[in-house]
Amino acid sequence: MLRISRLRKSFGEQRVLDGIDLEVRDGEVLSFLGPSGTGKSTLLRCLIGLERADEGTLRIDEAPPFDLRHLGRASLHRLRRSFSMVFQSHNLFVNKTALENILEPMVTVQRMPCGDAGEEASRILALVGMEDKADAYPVQLSGGEAQRIGIGRALAVHAPIMLFDEPTSSLDPERVREVLDVIRLLADKRHTMLIVTHELEFARQVSTRIAFMNEGRIAAIGAPEEIWSNDNPRLRRFLESMSKKG
Ligand SMILES: Nc1ncnc2c1ncn2[C@@H]1O[C@H](COP(=O)(O)OP(=O)(O)O)[C@@H](O)[C@H]1O
Ligand SMILES: [Mg+2]
Repeated sequence: MLRISRLRKSFGEQRVLDGIDLEVRDGEVLSFLGPSGTGKSTLLRCLIGLERADEGTLRIDEAPPFDLRHLGRASLHRLRRSFSMVFQSHNLFVNKTALENILEPMVTVQRMPCGDAGEEASRILALVGMEDKADAYPVQLSGGEAQRIGIGRALAVHAPIMLFDEPTSSLDPERVREVLDVIRLLADKRHTMLIVTHELEFARQVSTRIAFMNEGRIAAIGAPEEIWSNDNPRLRRFLESMSKKG
């Protein structure tokens, strides 16, 4: 169980997160929808310690809470074992092969013995459907393939909660599906995931709940069918504008 309380963040005068309270159960897939600039990325970045919040606490299970304003070395270390994040464009090492990119966090972050790490990396490569490209370098991969290796890297951390920040928005349309299929597979395996996405149909199918963010707040949250039948005017306009684009 993940519990976020009173999370606030401003950049200068601009209030970007205006009091986020949220509980996520183990095995939940929570998708975040909402217009650009409403704080979705900032929310994920605060959780993993890439941004400091102005206020807010985070609890994971019964462990001592994190004060998201002050994250010392020990807290950051603990946070980064709790979350792994997949960004909009992959952050692979260009001088390492697909397999080595997945091995790297297991050997450096988790200090797994090489033999075990090798086996686990092969298992992850198969899971993301990339066993044929184990020895390819990132320049030799399509955007979708590179992003699947990026998901493999995030899996390699073995963190209990995965965060995705628009994992398909930098891809060519024909490559979106292969990446969404991998995320869908992880959802079926009941990985706990927080996903920022503009893929409405995907979010609707894969999510246990959807949060609609607007102006730094969670303006609506609920099961997909509740969100689609919600009469919040800002949410209705958002869903209509997005389905026109799709
Ligand atoms: N490091 C930063 N410095 C200043 N402003 C930022 C920074 N990061 C984000 N912002 C601003 O905060 C707002 C919310 O950004 P973001 O969380 O990226 O929104 P979203 O992911 O919903 O599009 C935007 O107006 C953005 O310009
Ligand atoms: Mg964003």
